[in-house]
Formats: sequence, structure tokens, C-alpha cells
Amino acid sequence: MIAAIGAMASNGIIGLDNWLPWDIPEELAYFEKTVAGAALVIGRLTYESMDVVPPDAFIVTRQTDLVLRPGCTAVPTVEAGLRAAVATGKPVFAIGGAAIYAAAWPYCDYFYLTRIEMPFAGDTRFPETIPLERWRIESEQQAWLRERKTGQEVLCRFLVYAQENPLPLP
Ligand SMILES: NC(=O)c1ccc[n+]([C@@H]2O[C@H](COP(=O)([O-])OP(=O)(O)OC[C@H]3O[C@@H](n4cnc5c(N)ncnc54)[C@H](OP(=O)(O)O)[C@@H]3O)[C@@H](O)[C@H]2O)c1
Repeated sequence: MIAAIGAMASNGIIGLDNWLPWDIPEELAYFEKTVAGAALVIGRLTYESMDVVPPDAFIVTRQTDLVLRPGCTAVPTVEAGLRAAVATGKPVFAIGGAAIYAAAWPYCDYFYLTRIEMPFAGDTRFPETIPLERWRIESEQQAWLRERKTGQEVLCRFLVYAQENPLPLP
């Protein structure tokens, strides 16, 4: 199984200053629970923003001399990262950022996307090239959760999209 996972504001924003634009602990907990025990494919900028990176993490970078934390392996393309992640035998999640979603989606069986129904300021957008409107909605759960920066309750829709015929990995 190859999946991607991410969260997006209602205006398409996913990142601000190399972190999330919002502070919603339950959303972060959902992410951590969903990817627990999986092999992860991570963009270099997202990797650098993470305090803790679990083992079997494949960091996509064009740099050849990047020194990474233990358990992390540099890969030169998203496809190489997905192949290496699949070879671990674990479930595979591409966890972003935008550049990784844009390259990984053709190979994904599922996209776990949390739609945060509030606009946020940010500098990174969910790629508009990903045709999720053509994917089947496998499941959806909703919850009103407190966003700690604004102090507001925000509707979060936890969607799992399924793609019928993902591309085989080259
Ligand atoms: N809302 C969410 O769910 C979510 C999830 C993840 C991240 N984010 C946010 O998204 C932002 C980061 O996203 P981003 O798109 O700017 O960065 P990113 O995807 O995390 O990392 C980009 C870097 O990955 C490498 N890379 C990307 N595509 C590549 C390719 N096709 N081949 C080889 N290397 C490639 C390059 O590294 P080198 O420069 O080293 O070559 C590039 O600079 C942050 O704000 C982060 O917090 C949000």
C-alpha cells in the first residue's frame, strides 16, 4: 500500500515558515497515529522541520552530501524513495511537503487528506495538479477541533481518497 497524507486549509494552504500554519493537536495526533509503524517518504524541507523522525524514513533531496539523522536515508527522487519504502515491507506514506505530494500522487492508492474548513495565511499550497475530485472518497469523519493560535473551533474533515488505477512504480 502506498499512500500520501496531509492537511489543507480551505484556501489550499498547507505550510507557513516551514511548519504548519495552524496548531490543532488532535489533527497532529491523527497524523502520528495513521503513520505509526510505516515507512515514510519526506521532502528535505519537511524533514528539517520535524523534531522526531521515525526509522525507515526516506528523505528526498537533490543534494549528494546531506548528513541525515540515524534511520534516515537520502534518495534522489520521489520514485526512488517510494521504491525503497516499499522494500521495507511496511505500509508507505508520502508525508509531504507540496513538492513530494506533486510527484508521489500518481503512485498512491490512497490520499489521507484532512480538510481544515478555515482559511490560513501561508507560503506553501497543496498542488492544484492532484486530481482528487476524480478519486473515490473511501471514508470521511468530521470533528470540531480547537485551533490554538486563533482560539477558534474549526471543522476538520478527515477524508481518505482512493485512486482506482495508480501508476506502477518505475
Ligand atoms: N499540511 C501538511 O500536511 C504538511 C505536510 C508536510 C509539509 N507541510 C509543509 O509544507 C512546507 C514544505 O513543503 P515544500 O514543498 O516547500 O518542501 P518539501 O517538499 O518538504 O521539500 C522540498 C525539498 O525536497 C527535495 N525535493 C522535492 N522534490 C524533489 C524531487 N522531485 N527530486 C529530488 N528532490 C526533491 C528538494 O530538496 P533539496 O533542496 O535538498 O534538493 C526540495 O528543496 C512546510 O511549510 C511544511 O511544514 C505541510
